[in-house]
Amino acid sequence: MSIDHLQQLDKIVSLSKARGFIFQSSEIYGGLGAVYDYGPLGAELKRNVREAWWKEMTQKHENIVGIDAAIFMHPRVWEASGHVEGFNDPMIDDKQSKKRYRADMLIEQQIEKLHKDGDIDEAEKLKKLLDTSGTREGLCEDLHKIIMDYEIKAPDSGAFDWTEVRQFNLMFKTQFGAVSSSEDDDAVYLRPETAQGIFVNYKNVMDTSRQQIPFGIAQVGKAFRNEVVARQFVFRMREFEQMEMQYFVQPGTDEEMYDEWLSKRMEWHRGIGIREQYLRVAPHPEDKLAHYARDAADIQYRFPIGWQEVEGIHNRTDFDLTQHQEYSGKKMEYFDQSTRERYVPYVVETSVGLDRTILMVLCDAYREEEVEGEVRTVLKMHPKLAPITAGVFPLVKKPELQNLARKIEDDLREDFNVLYDESGSIGKRYRRLDEAGTPFCITVDFDGLEDNTVTIRFRDDMKQERIQVEHVSEVIRKETKNWNPS
Ligand code: GAP
Repeated sequence: MSIDHLQQLDKIVSLSKARGFIFQSSEIYGGLGAVYDYGPLGAELKRNVREAWWKEMTQKHENIVGIDAAIFMHPRVWEASGHVEGFNDPMIDDKQSKKRYRADMLIEQQIEKLHKDGDIDEAEKLKKLLDTSGTREGLCEDLHKIIMDYEIKAPDSGAFDWTEVRQFNLMFKTQFGAVSSSEDDDAVYLRPETAQGIFVNYKNVMDTSRQQIPFGIAQVGKAFRNEVVARQFVFRMREFEQMEMQYFVQPGTDEEMYDEWLSKRMEWHRGIGIREQYLRVAPHPEDKLAHYARDAADIQYRFPIGWQEVEGIHNRTDFDLTQHQEYSGKKMEYFDQSTRERYVPYVVETSVGLDRTILMVLCDAYREEEVEGEVRTVLKMHPKLAPITAGVFPLVKKPELQNLARKIEDDLREDFNVLYDESGSIGKRYRRLDEAGTPFCITVDFDGLEDNTVTIRFRDDMKQERIQVEHVSEVIRKETKNWNPS
């Protein structure tokens, strides 16, 4: 990992704000922890990533259909899914500062510190202890013991005055109805994952879309988690968006389908232009699997903060459908007409965070290059994701150039998001759009008025070509199709 890559996150946060990709929520009131708003460029980028995923999952698979389920669900859903009981993080409080930390993350930070200090043996020993710490029951005790044994201090106060480690449920609870009665009578949760909206609709979808197993249901939507430690920009948020697909399969075919989806999803990440060497698959060790999973792997990206999960692929077996069958009393079985067999399907899930994907795209695209003695900041993202596909400029503010540039802009607007810009030097206009990740800039000059040509300039290598006005759309399409990350 280059130093550049390591130092990038702060720069990406600054650029995101300066150029209108991502803002802190409620900023004028001092912000709200781990909640973010997307600005004009961010909203376009988000829409493009969402569309790339939706197209890949639904349009390109005849046996995958989409739904859009509500955020609120019956409270029993979360009992059946195991979230009320088990969707917890181990947390510990610093008694001096009253700040709360995730116990496992404190230990991870200590491992990093040992690594930085060159104490590799000790770092490895501690990592092993963390990796083998607790099953669900013993986890809090094990983590507390490690923190005590290694005398890990609170990062903010420097104190060594800890509470016990306790489990903290990550679901946001709210009240349903206009009059809130006492206790938890009307309690509902903001969904912590979109997946459950798919499970509870599986029969509805199958009955109405005439799908047969194997088939999938895809969904994009908001999820909410009251993360104990919510830092690192849009990497870990309290309100975020997930793109999930549940693939319903015959038991016994689940392992093959799991492998297939893992490789298909890796292919998708490469297809949106993420550099191969920054992607990897990290299978979960058997003793660390989520309560619902038989197999699980993360697709990880090498963020400036290290290798981290962007997407999870899980073999959820028949866990969820069986639980919903039991809690709702409604049959979740599938009847296979050809074999006359009845079974509860297994589910292979692909679950990717939209915001985390956006952070990955920004991190992967961000470059600083020296050009003619100056630093050029450029986002070399896949043209199909770029918030603005093309800039259109008249070389100078003369009516004949402005008219032709406006005409080209109008024509391109039918198919692409374009920006007309006539202020400042051409060099400055290029730089502004480099920072926005705009892959193509079209400049109209006086020669073009004679021979109906323009200059197209390419963001990545800054090369320029002279092309006929009527070929502009075609060149943009061709270059977008053939684009490769550099
Ligand atoms: N239905 C399975 C599920 O929700 P997960 O691994 O907890 O699995 C899937 O979440 C993906 O959702 C993650 O890989 C990540 O991209 C995204 N995600 C999870 N928590 C997040 C958070 N607090 N902020 C942003 N993205 C998050």
